Amino acid sequence: MLDALKDELLSLVNAAADLPALDEVRVNALGKKGRITGFMKELGGLSPDERKERGQALNALKDEIAAALDARKAELAAAHMKARLEAERLDVTLPVRPETEGRIHPITQTMDEMVAIFAEMGFSVAEGPDIEDDFHNFTALNFPPGHPARDMHDTFYLPDAGDKRMLLRTHTSPVQVRTMLNSKPPIRIIAPGRTYRSDYDMTHTPMFHQIEGLVIDEATNMGHLKGCLVEFCRAFFDVDDLPLRFRPSFFPFTEPSAEVDIGCLRKGGELKLGNYGDWLEILGCGMVHPNVLEACGIDSTKYQGFAFGMGVERVAMLKYGIPDLRTFFEADLRWLKHYGFVPLDIPNIAHGLTR
Ligand code: DAH
Repeated sequence: MLDALKDELLSLVNAAADLPALDEVRVNALGKKGRITGFMKELGGLSPDERKERGQALNALKDEIAAALDARKAELAAAHMKARLEAERLDVTLPVRPETEGRIHPITQTMDEMVAIFAEMGFSVAEGPDIEDDFHNFTALNFPPGHPARDMHDTFYLPDAGDKRMLLRTHTSPVQVRTMLNSKPPIRIIAPGRTYRSDYDMTHTPMFHQIEGLVIDEATNMGHLKGCLVEFCRAFFDVDDLPLRFRPSFFPFTEPSAEVDIGCLRKGGELKLGNYGDWLEILGCGMVHPNVLEACGIDSTKYQGFAFGMGVERVAMLKYGIPDLRTFFEADLRWLKHYGFVPLDIPNIAHGLTR
């Protein structure tokens, strides 16, 4: 009779399809109310000899079923793990994230680099509107009434707003005016942004970008201007011994004024930056004219400072070897793929401007 029970239980063990089903078989055989346990309970009613014989047989059966349960349990657990591993398969050789296809435009990248360098020197970023009035763009900057820059041929004029003559700003210098009118010295700002002039040829586009700098306090002098721009140019072009040359020049809003050249070498249609004896103009600068300070409500007997202005496209072309200005604004995806920058490679002095 025990043999029949054994065969039945063993086949139930082997037929259990998963761990819960197997546990049910275990409870039915060996649990408190299990069938083998039931027989064990009946042993008390037997004669000592019968009890011994029956007890041994039952113990052997119990051991055998327990062993079969363990073996089946291991088998089912292994199958379960195998199925899970199969289902949760992960190809660790795949890249974490596919590379993004979008690119940062070289103008944006260049302005971000400039901001990173000047921020390190303690400048903050100021902004002004693209649509300006004549006062902020010209008058407050000491342009005389008949100055050629005010000509229709150079400037995009818009319909007047009341008695204000409106225009698209021709430079970022009006941001100087707005900053001085709206805050008190000490002032230390840069103003990157779009600018507009009525011009279009190989080296001019009607819209382009500039970055303006302004420092006003009680003691800032031409030496500080020089140090600031030398520091900037060497960091920006990544040439440690890049020489700078300050040439006397004229701007209505600065006195004295200078144009800055950087050292270069022109050879076989190529241009190399460094200490090679040749020069290339890159920016305008000077000490802020007392008339400008006064027009902006700043006491010119107490305060002084410097300003500078630079074309962003021009230095971007120089730094990244982009030969044609007009391609910046053609929105050609192939061009952007070639000259653009990978997003999240944000310029930063600590890890380098570009990687
Ligand atoms: N605004 C000038 C331009 O558009 C550039 C410039 C020159 C800005 C000298 C300045 C400066 O602040 O001091 O050509």
